[in-house]
Amino acid sequence: MKRTASAIALVLLATVAHAQAGDRVEELLSAMTLEEKLGQLTQYVGGQPELDAALKKGLVGSILNLGGAASTNEMQRQALAGSRLKIPLLVANDVIHGYRTIFPIPLAIAATFDPALAELAARTAAREARASGIHWTFAPMVDIARDPRWGRIAEGAGEDPFLGAAMAAAYVRGFQGRKLSDPDAVMACAKHFAAYGAAEGGRDYSAADMSERVLREVYLPPFRAAVQANVATLMSAFNTVNGVPATANRYLLDDVLRKEWKFRGFVVSDYAAVAELVNHRIAATPHEAAIAALTAGVDMDMQDLSYGTLAEAVKKGTLQESAVDTAVRRVLRAKIDAGLFENPFTDETRAASVILSREHREAARRVAQRSFVLLKNENVLPLKKNEGTIAVIGSLAESKEDILGPWSSEGKAEEATPILDALRAAAKGAKIVYARGTGIADAKEDEFAAAVALAKDADVILAVLGESREMSGEAASRSSLELPGRQQQLLEALVATGKPVALLLLSGRPLTIAWAAEHVPAIVQAWFPGTEGAHALADVLFGDANFSGKLPVTIPRTTGQVPIYHAELPSGRPANVENRWTNKYADLPLGPLYAFGHGLSYTKFEYSGLKLSAPAMTAAGTLTASVSVRNTGARAGEEIVQLYMSDLVASVSRPVRELKGFHRIALAAGETKRVDFPITREQLEFWGEQGWVVEPGTFRVRVGPSSASGLEVTFEVR
Ligand code: NOJ
Repeated sequence: MKRTASAIALVLLATVAHAQAGDRVEELLSAMTLEEKLGQLTQYVGGQPELDAALKKGLVGSILNLGGAASTNEMQRQALAGSRLKIPLLVANDVIHGYRTIFPIPLAIAATFDPALAELAARTAAREARASGIHWTFAPMVDIARDPRWGRIAEGAGEDPFLGAAMAAAYVRGFQGRKLSDPDAVMACAKHFAAYGAAEGGRDYSAADMSERVLREVYLPPFRAAVQANVATLMSAFNTVNGVPATANRYLLDDVLRKEWKFRGFVVSDYAAVAELVNHRIAATPHEAAIAALTAGVDMDMQDLSYGTLAEAVKKGTLQESAVDTAVRRVLRAKIDAGLFENPFTDETRAASVILSREHREAARRVAQRSFVLLKNENVLPLKKNEGTIAVIGSLAESKEDILGPWSSEGKAEEATPILDALRAAAKGAKIVYARGTGIADAKEDEFAAAVALAKDADVILAVLGESREMSGEAASRSSLELPGRQQQLLEALVATGKPVALLLLSGRPLTIAWAAEHVPAIVQAWFPGTEGAHALADVLFGDANFSGKLPVTIPRTTGQVPIYHAELPSGRPANVENRWTNKYADLPLGPLYAFGHGLSYTKFEYSGLKLSAPAMTAAGTLTASVSVRNTGARAGEEIVQLYMSDLVASVSRPVRELKGFHRIALAAGETKRVDFPITREQLEFWGEQGWVVEPGTFRVRVGPSSASGLEVTFEVR
């Protein structure tokens, strides 16, 4: 009774606040000149030549690439002094996987299969960013990526829409916190809307062309999840989607986003993307481009100042002022929600106690430990920390920059620990020797030979190889997924010593390591693990923590096998080694090198007793699938239990499997737990001719440790 009364009171308060904010927006809007309105729709880059003059006239809605409480406060002072109506600035920044305390890259965070850890990473980043005067982050990037040639695969949750949606919502909750006006919250921005990850050939900024079904089922779900989690903003993508640039895509920005999904926030363009509509050849001038973008639903123009030209269009009658007003309302509303009218300035004393705090570093280490994927281990790991000699080889072992990964915001190399130092700190009783062997791009004969000689005398070799951080992220597409430079040759020389080798891979994407998979007894996918990443690696390599990450993306055998992903459609001629006329490459074994969801640990898990609560359900009903998982090994571990479904016969061809549930569970040695997965309409539906449908028939459920194995049962949908 009491709870109901207080719930009603809360709803009333929220309604009153909403109405008051609405009144305030209308009041401001009615007092604004057209020029002032367009100013609110314009985002400048810190240091842009036109910025000072615009600030003086009160014509700046937002600034990006700014940080630090003192400098953002100074900008805010100038903005308020220039603004007749005292409209505060919105300060934006790319805070992607941490601000100063850098967490593993988002692809690595996806490998934790634990939305609570993504939320923790975002919460931590938000706390540091807001204390540094940032109100708005351009994150999370929720683009599904099925082509690892695309460098930005590092910034998202990988290939799977179900995992991607869970991660998207978690990041939004983490960044935005309880309320946007709190001193530790930032507005989130789900980007890049939409289908940016489907860039043709994995080449950044290329076109994306796909069926409505693939768009709806694969590329849009993480955006929808972000909207359902109340994301404050979205960023439109650089690419075209089925021929229409996302920056002028009324279907995406209005029909889907606002009408269907009821999104109430605002949309910002990507950097210079409005003017780039001219390059896309759907507008002849930046002015025409601005009209196309605004009327399609892009509210704020990032960097290129095209929206400044819209006053002329309104005067000429080619653009209704009401279209400008709609966008301005959304931007003002966000500023009110972020509490900027009440508190435009940041407390300059706060950052010192927040940034890189012990708690933040510990959180980064905890997340990193769970992001590493043990791909293979034939009795090499854990390494012994109290005896013998470990030869650490590869320039990445001593790099503090690379470990932070791409888009590492204000992360500082000097605040990160290189892998070599962390190993030495952890292994007091073992002798650790180091040789560079080769760099990522450079190679010197004598260094190469010295490394092999050093390795020969060791008991075990840890080869730390992979990509440098600038090889992934934006504008870092690669046509080959091989280990770059002479690293493959070095690896082969190390294996040829006959000593046991563990390969530690740092990369922002899956690399094609077919040779290593065959010849190297232990392989760890370590991604770019962040400020505390090296300590977290030492934890798992020496066995103080267990491995528990799983692949959020399929690892191909060769670059030519791309795109390859677990939820593929069946073929009329399923792959069969014995039959030439089937769905395969003539020069490759079947299937991926490592399947989506794969990942080992120092213990073993046994699955048994997969059961359904009933043999059938209706589309409106629910069913529970449950399974027992037992830790049969000698040490504690965490397992990611995965549920895959397939609709066996439908009116359209359905994927061979779709991930529809996952749980991370912790099990002591010998312990058994039952894991329940609810099955509802969401897990059954697909995009049919007229929208989402569930068709009656038989569905298969598979629960297991990866997409490649598990227990199966079927049920009927009636
Ligand atoms: C371009 C990138 O595509 C986008 O993700 C980023 O937020 C903006 N630049 C701003 O830095």
